[in-house]
Amino acid sequence: MTKKTLSQIFYSANNSSIKHESYFAVYESLFNKFRGGEVTFLEVGVFNGGSLNMWKEYFGSKARIIGVDLNPVALKLIDQGFEIYIGDQESKSFWLDLKSRIGKVDIILDDGGHKNLQQAVTLYYGADLVSDGGLVVIEDVHTSYFRRFGNPGYFSFVNFSKRIIDIVNSRFAYLKKINSKLGSMVWSIQYFESIVAFNIDRSKCKISVPVANKGYSNNATDFRHESDKLIKASELIEQRVHETTGNKKIISKIIMKIFDQIYYLYEYLKSLSINKYLK
Ligand SMILES: C[S@@+](CC[C@H](N)C(=O)[O-])C[C@H]1O[C@@H](n2cnc3c(N)ncnc32)[C@H](O)[C@@H]1O
Repeated sequence: MTKKTLSQIFYSANNSSIKHESYFAVYESLFNKFRGGEVTFLEVGVFNGGSLNMWKEYFGSKARIIGVDLNPVALKLIDQGFEIYIGDQESKSFWLDLKSRIGKVDIILDDGGHKNLQQAVTLYYGADLVSDGGLVVIEDVHTSYFRRFGNPGYFSFVNFSKRIIDIVNSRFAYLKKINSKLGSMVWSIQYFESIVAFNIDRSKCKISVPVANKGYSNNATDFRHESDKLIKASELIEQRVHETTGNKKIISKIIMKIFDQIYYLYEYLKSLSINKYLK
């Protein structure tokens, strides 16, 4: 028997729910590997319970489905077999208390209040509850562009998430590591229309070091600057100056700094036209 799609399950759910058409494909791609297993799924934002019904049917009988909402009316859903917790997703103490009560989860889906801080706090403290290999998914991030949510602006959740990309990239060995709690938990980030998914895996959040194998070499040279005459000439001059200054380390360092500036300026100016590729 073929399994029902999430969209089919949604339209036939007993309790009412409001989602967006484009979300089902995103959910399927993110959550499919958990389907049928012993997954613990937590959704912030219960409302009438329609989505909890949908998740129960989608993940199957072995799944543990937990709902969180500010509104105590959600407690009615306990009768249908759901675990319900009442609290404010923007509150640190709520998340700490929740962690001690429910333990680890595999997925947190945020469909709560959709405000910048609510989304950031849910990611920051919610990630502590998520097992490696799990996810924190923040949906309806289009509110990052809504005026009534104080956006668009530097402090929107989408802009906050872009800064997490900088933190993730700072794990590259030759960059200055940005120390951050999320940087030690968020392995990768996936962007979809209105949804940002944070893949949690502490074991993979390591400094990345260069590696090489012992394979055959053609003695190929790197052609990356072949068409940039200025950079090629600079490289040659830099090399010569290094050779003539020999092992005078201070001079070598100064030369490197000067040439760093030349390369930087040249590439910076060349990059100024990059936005035309957004059109
Ligand atoms: C969009 S509805 C959830 C819809 C539900 N997930 C569905 O698909 O049917 C948003 C819910 O989030 C709850 N909510 C709003 N702000 C919240 C907060 N700060 N903490 C927890 N829940 C919140 C609201 O009470 C409301 O029930």
